[in-house]
Parts: sequence; C-alpha cells; structure tokens
Amino acid sequence: MPDRLRHADRALPSPFPEGWYFVAGRRDVLKAKLIQKIWMGEDIVVWCDDQGRICVAEAYCPHLGSFLGPDAGASVCDGRLVCPFHGYEFDVSGQCMATPFAPPPRSARLRVHETREISGMVFAWWGINGREPQWQLPAQDPEQTGWCGIHIQTLRFEGHPQETTENSVDMAHLRYVHGYHGVNADNPVVVDGPYLESRFDFRRTQSIAGVANVTFEFSATAHVYGLGYSFVEGREHSIGVDFRLWVLATPIDGKWIDLSLVTQTGQIRDPKRRVVGLGFLPRDRRAPLFNALSSYFQRRDVMQDVAIWRRKRYEPRPRLCRSDGEITTYRAYCEQFYPGPEEVLQLPREEAGSARMTGG
Ligand code: FES
Ligand SMILES: [Fe+2]
Repeated sequence: MPDRLRHADRALPSPFPEGWYFVAGRRDVLKAKLIQKIWMGEDIVVWCDDQGRICVAEAYCPHLGSFLGPDAGASVCDGRLVCPFHGYEFDVSGQCMATPFAPPPRSARLRVHETREISGMVFAWWGINGREPQWQLPAQDPEQTGWCGIHIQTLRFEGHPQETTENSVDMAHLRYVHGYHGVNADNPVVVDGPYLESRFDFRRTQSIAGVANVTFEFSATAHVYGLGYSFVEGREHSIGVDFRLWVLATPIDGKWIDLSLVTQTGQIRDPKRRVVGLGFLPRDRRAPLFNALSSYFQRRDVMQDVAIWRRKRYEPRPRLCRSDGEITTYRAYCEQFYPGPEEVLQLPREEAGSARMTGG
C-alpha cells in the first residue's frame, strides 16, 4: 500500500461526504435513453419519461434482483424502466406499475434519489444511510437568456471531493501552479451553513501563437454548495466577457472520482479590446467560440491540479503560512458533510427506520 494511504489518522472521514452530486447532463440522458453508472459507491440507473421527468434510481430490481442497466438488457419503454428478467415496469417515482403476467405488487418499488436540475445538469442527493436532503442547491437557476449552451467534459482520477474543492480557497496555488498574477482575495470567505462563497481577482498572461503575450483580467466568485457543487461566475474585463464555470466532483467507488467541468459564456456584443477576427464573426457565434476556448483553458488548468491531486495525501494538520487563504475556515466548513452516527440517528423513530430500510 502506498505510504500516502497507510496512516488511518490521515484518512478523510469518508470517501462519500453527504451532499448533492452531479449525475449526467439532460442531453446525455435523452440521447442514451438509459444510463448506468457507479455513483457514490452505488450502481444507479438514470432515465427520462415522456414528460421529461428524470429518475435516478438504484440499479437492482426488487423482484429477484436483476441488474437494471442496459448492460443486462434493461430498456426504457413508454417512459418506464423495464427489467430484463421478468418484465416488471417502473415509473419515474420508482413504483412498479405493471408486470407481464400478473398485477404489480404494491411493495415493488425502486429506491430513488431526489433530483435537482440546474441549467441542463442533473444532480441527485446522496444522504448517509439514505436519509433525506438536509439542504438544497440554490433555488434560482442561472439566467439562460444571453448565454450560449453549456459544455461538459469529465476527467477521472484518484481523488476526493474535499481535496478538489479546497482549491477554491487555496489562493497560493493559483499563483504557483497556474501562474496567475495579481491574485487578490480581499473579502474573507463567507460561510452560511452548507454554502461557502469565495471572491477573488486575478490576471493571466497568455502567449498567443508564441508571438504576443496578452493579459486577461478576471474577477470571480465561487459559490460552493457542499463538496459536489462548485459554481464560479465572473467576468473577464479586458474584452468584457461574462463566464460561468461549474466544477463538479463526484465520488465513484471510494477511490476514483469524476470531475466534470462545465463552461458557459455570455454573449459578446461590443468587445472592449480588439480581438483578431472577432469583429467578423456574427454575434451569436462569438460566445460559443469563447466557450470552446474557456473549456480548453479550464481543462488545461485542471490538469495541472490533477497532477497534484492524484498523488497527494490528505494533510489533517497543515502547516499553513500567511499566503494560504482560508484553508482552516474551509476545513471547518467541510465537517458538516460527515455527520456522525448520533446526528444521523436524530431522526424521528419511524423515519430513522425507513431510512435504514431504504438506505444506501
Ligand atoms: S428480477 Fe426484475 S422482473 Fe424479475
Ligand atoms: Fe487549481
């Protein structure tokens, strides 16, 4: 076993902190019709009914245990998930609605995860012992008018969502790893229950085609809702482009995580700075072009982080210095996502019972 994993006192409390985690893009669900994946240590399936309602459910049939993914021959027919073994049909609430040869047993029900969709991204709640959502993602969806479509790309590596999210408050790495300059995080990190906000400005100088160095100036605000949802919104001032980035860490099996990077760019009407060729592009093509560039640079930056994340060990007692930002505040914020057995069992008696019965 590698040294970085050997010491139990260095382990984070769990590879599965409680929270909302990304499952898939709506478009991918519609395209595939039925998706199977390992998510938060569980086999799940995802599908959409004819009314556009998306279901995220456990991937095993309550009849005789067949796997319900396309790998085993399951399918979606008229919006219902059909088991490949004896044909039980499940609606998006998880209830069995029909079987081929007899009335459906009322108790035949899939365990489903509560879902929330934001800007075409589907998230589901994962609670300790299957307990209900303890908090919500932001109520308001970001405005879509005046923005191009989202672009999603996913990286997979050995890691932990607490470690990846920690980079939102780690100001020193912005300079040292990514080479940003003028990093300025004037305002302290704001914490309000499961919400954490971090604001910062920075500049990055980009070599264009190896001949000219161009400096871009950014202001950004990171809105973090638990360890699976980080949303960064901001503006690049020299051209005048609004941007959105989502960094969505999702544990797979306790060792690997998927890190989905989602970008969206606002329409560019009157660029403040001359950008070669931009003036010739129709306005509605500018934002998608910048979004493609934004995706490219985000991926490039995150690959620099991945080189560190995939081999680092968790340091429970970090020896911090003044330029580190608010890592201590962040660590204290994270503790709420690892509720102990006493907190989980503070449910009313019957709820605790049903949580255990339906738990995962
Ligand atoms: S195991 Fe699914 S219908 Fe029998
Ligand atoms: Fe980073």
